[in-house]
Amino acid sequence: MTSAAQLAHDEETTIFARNVTKTYGSGAVAYQALRGVDFEARAGEFVMLNGPSGSGKTTLLSILGCVLTPTSGDVRLFGEPISGQPERALPRLRLAYIGFIFQGHNLIASLDVRDNVSLPMRMRGHSVRDANREAERLLVRVGLGDKLERLPRDLSGGQRQRVAIARALAGSPPIILADEPTASLDAETGASVTHLLKEMAREGGHTVVVVTHDNRIFHLADRIVHIEDGHIVDHPV
Ligand SMILES: Nc1ncnc2c1ncn2[C@@H]1O[C@H](COP(=O)(O)OP(=O)(O)O)[C@@H](O)[C@H]1O
Ligand SMILES: [Mg+2]
Repeated sequence: MTSAAQLAHDEETTIFARNVTKTYGSGAVAYQALRGVDFEARAGEFVMLNGPSGSGKTTLLSILGCVLTPTSGDVRLFGEPISGQPERALPRLRLAYIGFIFQGHNLIASLDVRDNVSLPMRMRGHSVRDANREAERLLVRVGLGDKLERLPRDLSGGQRQRVAIARALAGSPPIILADEPTASLDAETGASVTHLLKEMAREGGHTVVVVTHDNRIFHLADRIVHIEDGHIVDHPV
């Protein structure tokens, strides 16, 4: 058994979270969505986070992705503490470490595919030219090299999900987080999107965490973590 302290100092551990809680609201309407969660993941690992609707999956992913601050607990990315940081520190941490694939993909409707993918790199300070070159490389990688100038509305659901993946990979953030990326896809497209994410972990050494309750893709995970009522459980019912 490896102790928490050892894991915290293991350089392969990219995500480290101990006893994380999150309470939404306060007083009579307070709701504790996470009730003491331990989680970690390593470079090159492809982890799925599974649990029923309302169990806290999106909340946990958002905390790991520096979108939300935890109410309490210890969260570190590459050893850098992110719990206890003020909200205004989150965007810098997110840009440094995280590619986030949101549920419903969140593409910008008025921007073409290439601009959707290059935007995060431009926000990281790269020139338009470099950002576009990288966007084109990634779009070829996800099989959309012939769709650079299309708008999101001209694409199928699976193609949009691939654009969202390319966007999350732009600038090569070491941690890729995806919230139910296959929920709106047919079985074949869902499997190909999942294979692509797995390849990112395998070949790129990214840490990839996918929230899903899609049992068609569980067999592709290196490890499945189950969450119920804001707790990690060993044996889901
Ligand atoms: N912004 C919020 N304000 C209040 N309650 C919330 C908020 N976001 C989520 N919740 C509640 O927290 C619980 C966990 O939500 P969530 O993390 O979205 O679960 P999942 O992604 O597993 O469906 C749910 O009961 C949900 O209603
Ligand atoms: Mg959710």
